[in-house]
Amino acid sequence: MTLSYDQLRALDARHVWHPFTQAGTAKPAILALGGKAATIYAADGREYLDLVSSWWVNMHGHGNPAIAQAIADQAQRLEQVIFADFTHEPAARLAQRVTALLPGDLNRVFYSDDGSTAVEVALKLAHQYWRNLGEDRSVIVAFEGGYHGDTVGAMSAGHSSGYFNAWKQMLFPVETIPFPETWDGDAEVEAKEAAALAALDRVLAAHPDRISSVIIEPLIQGASGMRMCRPEFLRALEAKIRTARTLLIFDEVMTGFCRTGGYFASAKAGVTPDLLCLSKGLTGGFLPLSMTVARDFIFDAFWGQDLSRAFLHGHSYTANPLGCAAGLASLDLLQAPACQARITEIEAQHRRRLDRLAGAPNVAHTRLCGTVAALDVTGSGQGYGAGISDRLKTAFMERGLLLRPLGHVLYLLPPYCITDAELERAWDVVEEVLGSV
Ligand SMILES: Cc1ncc(COP(=O)(O)O)c(C=O)c1O
Repeated sequence: MTLSYDQLRALDARHVWHPFTQAGTAKPAILALGGKAATIYAADGREYLDLVSSWWVNMHGHGNPAIAQAIADQAQRLEQVIFADFTHEPAARLAQRVTALLPGDLNRVFYSDDGSTAVEVALKLAHQYWRNLGEDRSVIVAFEGGYHGDTVGAMSAGHSSGYFNAWKQMLFPVETIPFPETWDGDAEVEAKEAAALAALDRVLAAHPDRISSVIIEPLIQGASGMRMCRPEFLRALEAKIRTARTLLIFDEVMTGFCRTGGYFASAKAGVTPDLLCLSKGLTGGFLPLSMTVARDFIFDAFWGQDLSRAFLHGHSYTANPLGCAAGLASLDLLQAPACQARITEIEAQHRRRLDRLAGAPNVAHTRLCGTVAALDVTGSGQGYGAGISDRLKTAFMERGLLLRPLGHVLYLLPPYCITDAELERAWDVVEEVLGSV
């Protein structure tokens, strides 16, 4: 039985609970029928240019035929297998190919399902690493505004992002230090970096031999408003951590796979963290999959004859073969010279359009890192629930752009297949809308 557009929307309204949504005030969900490259097609005939890569996952846009084919082929061979006692070709090959692009000896991949679980695994690995060494280190240090996902450990590390007030009592304490966010023409950046490092010194001094790890979203804090820091800061952070004897975790769930221009923010900054989390772009947006990558010495600390030293953690769909096959196909696309050239062009195009907007009366703090461009819309409320966010979103949707401001922060994070003309049109609409709010 074929259901009409209205019947499907009624089923959704009756039975589906949407994420990050107040059902009492939200407009009915848009029924997506299909997607091709940077465009999403809705059942009511409207089209939306996806400038947020559908929550930062669809690196190559929608409906990429090469990834779809790789999944179909893999589904004919092996759709899923228990990942204890068994392995399979896509998992082994994907682990080898991703680690080959990572800096240093980040060689060992632990698979899980999404960004939150990748972070949860990193935090648990860090904790048990010290335990296996006979040390009791349970303090985690995170950065103000950091967002690491919605599981309890990830929420605890991201408590200052402001997303988790409903669960404050569930979270374990985490030490938080300032994130030295910067933007075009920022004269204070070095002072902010020095203040952040001094705050880290104070936390280290307050908890001698108790800190298990320091976690950061490198180069760009995503959910708290595309807040950017300099690679110089990450190098200084790494140097401090090496003398402090604790572990450095890079949450590259959003920054991975060329979002920041380089393949990974870590490689771009020239920093080798001890643990690194990847998800989102890993499968090109086709399937949920994630990795926590560990340096060799971390894996070695779990090695032995004793089960209690092992990492007794796993998920039913760990290293799902379809997801891994999608990951391999997505990497082929990403490493193609044409895709790499397009990433460079997107950054240049963003730069030109940001510079044009920089003097506008309601625009501040323009910033750019790789394919992520952002600015603050001034003269409005701040924060996730700021009214300006909804007004802007509605104005963009009416003009066929999927753009979801984070509070007063407007950002563009397009799929790499977006054409020059599509991106120009998007920026034209941004200029028009900002001129009228
Ligand atoms: C940096 C970062 N870490 C972790 C997560 C959580 O990922 P997921 O939503 O796939 O659980 C996100 C999601 O936006 C993120 O941006």
